[in-house]
Amino acid sequence: MTKARKILVNTEQFKNGDALFEPLIAAGYEVEVNETFRLPSEAELIEKLRDGVVATIAGGEPYTAHVLETAPDLKIIARWGVGYDKVDVAAATKAGIPVAMAFGANHESVAEYAHAMALSLACRIGPRDAIVKSGKWVFDGFHPGLWGRTAGIVGLGRIGGAMARRCVGGGMKVVVYDPFATDEQLQSLGATRIVLEELFAVADLISVHAPSTPETRHLVNAERLALVKPTAILVNTSRGPLIDETALVAALAENRIGGVGLDVFEVEPLPESSRLRSFDNVLLSPHVSGMDRMAERLVTERCVSNILEFLGGRSKAIAPYVVNPQVLAG
Ligand SMILES: NC(=O)c1ccc[n+]([C@@H]2O[C@H](COP(=O)([O-])OP(=O)(O)OC[C@H]3O[C@@H](n4cnc5c(N)ncnc54)[C@H](O)[C@@H]3O)[C@@H](O)[C@H]2O)c1
Repeated sequence: MTKARKILVNTEQFKNGDALFEPLIAAGYEVEVNETFRLPSEAELIEKLRDGVVATIAGGEPYTAHVLETAPDLKIIARWGVGYDKVDVAAATKAGIPVAMAFGANHESVAEYAHAMALSLACRIGPRDAIVKSGKWVFDGFHPGLWGRTAGIVGLGRIGGAMARRCVGGGMKVVVYDPFATDEQLQSLGATRIVLEELFAVADLISVHAPSTPETRHLVNAERLALVKPTAILVNTSRGPLIDETALVAALAENRIGGVGLDVFEVEPLPESSRLRSFDNVLLSPHVSGMDRMAERLVTERCVSNILEFLGGRSKAIAPYVVNPQVLAG
């Protein structure tokens, strides 16, 4: 029987032959890139992992217990990103498979994108571009702007911290809800801690950066949306389940919120019929905020390095990136 040597790149942004994967090929692995711009379903993933696949560079495809039980050669999952809500980490741990993240490689990209969404909404750049391109030249009213206002950051991790820095740099006062953030973190940013309900009530910009967990599901719900200023802007570049989209659509339909920027959705791809597609003051994008050119290289290099180190027997080297480090013991 031939030795298993295949590595699957399941994330949708790359092409076979991409130079970023050359170190894997140079190390003797066969690299197969998903070129469909669509993530594999659970059934497709099972089929792909059936034979000879030792590692994956994973997008948001589902690593369920069933997938992991039926992947006989899989040794490591290297996530192209930092969210692991689509991986059954307990099942991976049981199977002895490390789940390695690319921490620290695309947080600036996401924060920049969230900030760009917020600025674009607050300055009404899209609608004005459309006005001028349609041949008109009109004053459509004063735009809200952001400087001198209050930014509410939910989740002060790598991305939330980078977003807070941008807001401070943009002349905003920053308030934070994060039960795990330290006083030192807040002080270094010049930010103030606040309870969640108050954040919703005082913020002119609410930017969501907490992970998707059972506790954060529908953290933005009807009750909290009822507290926001009618001019407030809400941005979510974290994960769709953090927002109750039905409640958000109701707030938008009743003009109870000023603008919304969403890169992530409860169901992805966003269904064509979603009412979120129908509002002028909503900016939408297809889960791409962490994918700037810098991240393309840095995140991919981290995935490649995590795989080569682990398969090369240097498991300690990947410990800072692994969410189930107990599988690295010994
Ligand atoms: N849209 C994209 O392309 C994209 C790219 C990268 C990451 N993300 C998402 O962004 C999230 C944040 O990434 P990060 O690198 O900043 O993660 P991180 O782990 O550095 O930070 C998450 C922060 O959320 C806080 N937190 C945890 N539970 C909370 C709660 N109940 N309420 C408020 N805060 C809470 C944590 O204390 C931590 O400070 C990830 O979980 C990921 O899902 C999205």
